[in-house]
Amino acid sequence: MHVAHDFDVLVIGSGAAGLSLALHVADNAKVAVLSKNKLNSGSTSWAQGGIAAVLDDRDTKESHIEDTLNAGGGLCEYDAVKFVVDQGKEAINWLIENGADFTKDENSNVDGDYHLTKEGGHSFRRVIHSADATGKEVQISLEKKVKEHPNITLFEHHMAVDLISSDKKNRKTQKCVGAYILDTKRGKVDLFRAKATVLATGGASKAYLYTSNPDGSTGDGIAMAWRIGCRVANMEFNQFHPTCLYHPETRTFLLTEALRGEGAVLRLPDGERFMDRFDERAELAPRDIVAHAIDHEMKRLGVDHLYLDISHKDDDFITEHFPTIYKRCLKLGYDLTKEPIPIVPAAHYTCGGVMADLNARTDVKNLYAIGEVAHTGLHGANRMASNSLLECLVFAHSAAKDIAKNIGHEKFSENIKPWDESRVRDSDEEVVVSHNWNELRHFMWDYVGIVRSTRRLERAARRIDMLAGEIREYYSAFRVTPDLLELRNLVTVSDLIVRSALSRTESRGLHHTLDFPEPDPDMDGRNTVLKPPRQPYRK
Ligand code: FAD
Ligand code: SIN
Repeated sequence: MHVAHDFDVLVIGSGAAGLSLALHVADNAKVAVLSKNKLNSGSTSWAQGGIAAVLDDRDTKESHIEDTLNAGGGLCEYDAVKFVVDQGKEAINWLIENGADFTKDENSNVDGDYHLTKEGGHSFRRVIHSADATGKEVQISLEKKVKEHPNITLFEHHMAVDLISSDKKNRKTQKCVGAYILDTKRGKVDLFRAKATVLATGGASKAYLYTSNPDGSTGDGIAMAWRIGCRVANMEFNQFHPTCLYHPETRTFLLTEALRGEGAVLRLPDGERFMDRFDERAELAPRDIVAHAIDHEMKRLGVDHLYLDISHKDDDFITEHFPTIYKRCLKLGYDLTKEPIPIVPAAHYTCGGVMADLNARTDVKNLYAIGEVAHTGLHGANRMASNSLLECLVFAHSAAKDIAKNIGHEKFSENIKPWDESRVRDSDEEVVVSHNWNELRHFMWDYVGIVRSTRRLERAARRIDMLAGEIREYYSAFRVTPDLLELRNLVTVSDLIVRSALSRTESRGLHHTLDFPEPDPDMDGRNTVLKPPRQPYRK
C-alpha cells in the first residue's frame, strides 16, 4: 500500500545541514527529516578536521574572507563569502548551545578556552574541532536535539526518488510541492506533500572510484533538482583530498589536513620533502595545489602512493589530538607516532551544485538547497578546508528564516497523483546495475580525475551517453530500488561534471586540463552554469 504524508517542511537529508535546518524551523512548523539510510550515514559524521570561524580576537573576518577568496581561484562570490564568515561565531555558539563539545586548550585565547587548529589555505588558527572526530560530535548533538523536538518526525531508510512539480509544463511558474519517497524497507514509493522542500542531500564524490566519502554521496539532490528544472553550477570543481590512507585491502580513510596543520609533512618514497617545490606554503597550501603536486610526483616516479609523516612530534601530542586516526592506522599495521603513513588523494567534496541564493532558494519556488548539495558561491574553484560544515550551519539558518516567513501563505497541493507502478515489474537483471556502477566510477576516476584532457573528457562523455540510455530503459521497465536510483543520479551528475569540465577551456583551481594548462584571465569570475533543458530531463 502507498502512503501519503503532509508536512509543512520536508527536509531531505539528515547531516549537519538538514538537522540544523529542522531545529531552526521546527518551532513554527511540522517537519519531516528523511535519510536514505541511518540518520548518521552522511559525510557529516565522518568529518575530522573541524569548523572554520573567526573565534580568536587576534584573527579577523577580513582574513578569513581573503583566505577563502584566494583558495577559490577567482570564482568565489564575495557576498556569499562575507555572509558565511560574518555568521561564523554565531553558528559555532549555536552548536555549543545545542550540546556540541569541542576540544579545549588551557593556553587558549578564545572564549570558552577552545583549541583552534590550522588547515591548508588558512593564514590563522581558526578551526574549532572535537579532536579528530568533529563531525561525529556535531551529528550526535544535533540528532539528540531533533529526537527531543515534538514537531520533528524522523524517517530513516526513506529515499527521495524525485521532486514533485505543481506544473511540469511551465518551469517559470512551477512550485515544488513535495517528493516521491521510496521506503526502502517496504519497497514502496510514498507521497510526501510539503509547503517547502529542502535538499540537504550532501555531495556526489561517489562518482569516483576512490573517495573519502560514505556510500550515499551519490549526488541525488543535484540530479533531482536538475530534473525538476534548477540550474546547476561549477560541477567541474570536484575536490580531491590530498591525504587518504593508501591501503589496498581497506576502504579509503581520510587522514585529516589538521595533521599537516600540526606539523605533518609529505615525503617521497626516499624520504625527501617536496611540497616547497610547488608552493611556498608547502604542506599548508590549498588542497588543489597539494593534491595536484602529489599526483604529479606519483606519476613522475611511477609509484602508487607517497607518505605523510608526523612521527617527529611527541607521541602524547599525536595520540591526544588524533586518537581516531591513530587507532585506525594501528589496526591496519601503521604506527603514526613512529613511521610515515602511505597516502593517496581521493575524491572528497563537490564544490559545485544546485544554484542557491543567500536564503538557500533555488530556481524553483518552495525548493531550497543547503549544505554540500548547494552552490552558494562560497567555494569557487576550490573549497578551503573546514568551510563546509560552516556553510551547512549558516545556510540552514537563513533558509529556516525564509521558510518560516513564507509557509504561512502556502497550501498543500490538491492534485498530486500517487506513484504509478502499473507498468513496471521486478528486475530480473540486477547485475546491469552493479556492472554499470563499477564502470562509471572507473572511467570517471581515469578520465575525469585530478588531471584531465579534452580527449579523456570526450571519451567519458561517450560512455556516459551509453550508460544513460541503458539506465533509462531499465528505469522505465523495472520497479525502483535504492541501487538503481543512485546509479541513475550518478549518471546524471557525471554528465554534468563532464559537460562543465569540457566547457572550461583553462586550468583553474580543482580543474586541471593538459590542453589548457593555464588560467584564462577572460574566465576570471565566470562560473559554469548549466541550464536544464525545457523539456523534462531524461538522462
Ligand atoms: P551529509 O552530511 O552528507 O548528509 C547527507 C544526507 O542526505 C544523509 O542523511 C543522506 O542519507 C541523505 N540523503 C542523500 N540522498 C538522499 C535521498 N535521495 N533521499 C533521502 N536522503 C538522502 N567539512 C568540514 O567543514 N570540516 C571537516 O573537518 C570535514 N571533514 C570531512 C571528512 C570526511 C571524511 C568527509 C567525507 C567530509 C569532510 N568534510 C568536512 C565535508 C563535510 O563533512 C560535508 O561537506 C558536510 O558534512 C555535508 O553535510 P550535508 O548535511 O550537506 O550532507
Ligand atoms: C580534513 O579534516 O582534512 C577535512 C576537512 C575538510 O574537508 O574541510
